[in-house]
Amino acid sequence: MLQETPRKSVHSKSIWSRMSAITDYFAWPLRTSHYLELVNPLWTTHKLQARVVNVWDETKDSRTLTLRPGLNWRGHRAGQHVRLGIPVGGKQYTRTYTISSPPERDDGCFTITVKAIDEGTISHHIVRNIKVGDYLPIGLPQGEFYLPDAQPVLPLFITAGSGITPAASMMRSLIAQGRLADTHHIHYAPHEFDVVLGKDLKEMAQQHSRYHLHRIYTREQGVQGSAHFSETQMSALCPDWKERDVYACGPPSLLAAIEKCFDDAGCSRQLHIERFRAPFTEIPTDAIGGRVRFARSGVDAEGDKETPLLRVAEEAGMNPPHGCRMGICHTCNTTLVSGCVRDLRTGKLLNEVGSIVQTCICAAAGDCELDL
Ligand code: FES
Repeated sequence: MLQETPRKSVHSKSIWSRMSAITDYFAWPLRTSHYLELVNPLWTTHKLQARVVNVWDETKDSRTLTLRPGLNWRGHRAGQHVRLGIPVGGKQYTRTYTISSPPERDDGCFTITVKAIDEGTISHHIVRNIKVGDYLPIGLPQGEFYLPDAQPVLPLFITAGSGITPAASMMRSLIAQGRLADTHHIHYAPHEFDVVLGKDLKEMAQQHSRYHLHRIYTREQGVQGSAHFSETQMSALCPDWKERDVYACGPPSLLAAIEKCFDDAGCSRQLHIERFRAPFTEIPTDAIGGRVRFARSGVDAEGDKETPLLRVAEEAGMNPPHGCRMGICHTCNTTLVSGCVRDLRTGKLLNEVGSIVQTCICAAAGDCELDL
């Protein structure tokens, strides 16, 4: 692994910003930050970037990147995510990934762990092509899925696939702070060799007797069973689950089953959920897609009833603004010029000219035209 110098302290940062306020005067019409970027892209203050300082293959299709962020970075809370700009084929794409390292890491770096998903061009690119020395634009850490600061927690983590990443960050943080209480963790993966961060989990379980790891392999007769999530299974593995703070992250089907179980038991207040995708509702069988016109770009494309307009635009060769891709950040907002679109989360139709359309969670409902 490459060794790099620790980050600058908050104090030196404020001296730095005072100095650059003076030097900006001489750098006009640019700013000092633009010249510093030529020396070291991490010293810029007009945009935030990170340098890839290590890459590590976790499984055959997942990889951990260690990133050293630039001066404007502020620390994250365990469980939060970050936006990354990924250059592919001359275009800049944005994706959001959970930070898998704890905030207590003392070299100023953080890690993200990315699994290459089917048809996921960008995730495949990260897993296969990103290398040490690359610089990537990043956002600031975001998200409400994190542990409370001071109050004691009695956690039960329920995760699947790359949903392990926020739980790993939280676990590592609790251990680093010496706050690890009796913790249960139920993790689902198709096979043992598919477990993202599997080696780390195993080591944590060996080193910390309070951490009870239950691995469930859904496609093989595994160590502790092969079934999917159920209340019976959870009660067998963690009998006091109703007394616990539950943090769940994984695919929509798992989260829906967990939500239903906690709703039925009247315990939904103790359940915290992190989604990687917006929960879409069922689309009526008689719904239709239509011809989509992206007015400003002069691009026409065919959109079906369930493909988000953002993807329709990307597949037509456009690169519209976007961030989370799940209806949270509103970076993808545009205006409806004519026609009708459907909000895939609620199933509601939007047909009023001038309505704001979030292209990542809306699909065509007949022909439509967008101000994009
Ligand atoms: S990309 Fe974030 S709301 Fe659409």
